[in-house]
Amino acid sequence: MKILIVHGPNLNLLGKRKKEIYGDKTLEEIDRLLGQQAAELGIEVIAFQSNSEGSLIDFIQGESPGADGIIINPGALTHYGLSLRDALDDIGLPLIEVHLSNIHAREEFRQKSVIAPIATGQISGLGWRGYIAALRTLVAELRGETA
Ligand code: DQA
Repeated sequence: MKILIVHGPNLNLLGKRKKEIYGDKTLEEIDRLLGQQAAELGIEVIAFQSNSEGSLIDFIQGESPGADGIIINPGALTHYGLSLRDALDDIGLPLIEVHLSNIHAREEFRQKSVIAPIATGQISGLGWRGYIAALRTLVAELRGETA
């Protein structure tokens, strides 16, 4: 089983960027933790970050044929990234949307997600642990585990 981990704009600055909101782990640390979790689950993950919507779409289109699901933190594209949403919708893989911060408790523009309607679910406000929860949940769903 292979899961794509997709990180949107500005998430390359995690660990330096607004730590009180996004926590102090870097993206590399989060990807390493996801890699460890993947090894425990016996699956493969491929992580990718870009500040450009087109590059994110190219990655998703290129890698999705061999993948089983996607975990994505679209960054600010969450709120207006319609090309990204179309790309995710077109490939039709199970998808979990993750946010480090609780977008529903922040500015009004952050409270709307154009991705959420096509996602299996959304995890928001659980910090880096949200990615781990998303990976475990997606794998369990794909394996059809009931307990
Ligand atoms: C974010 C929330 C977005 O509103 C913001 O633009 C980000 C990060 C989060 O993980 O909390 O870049 O997706």
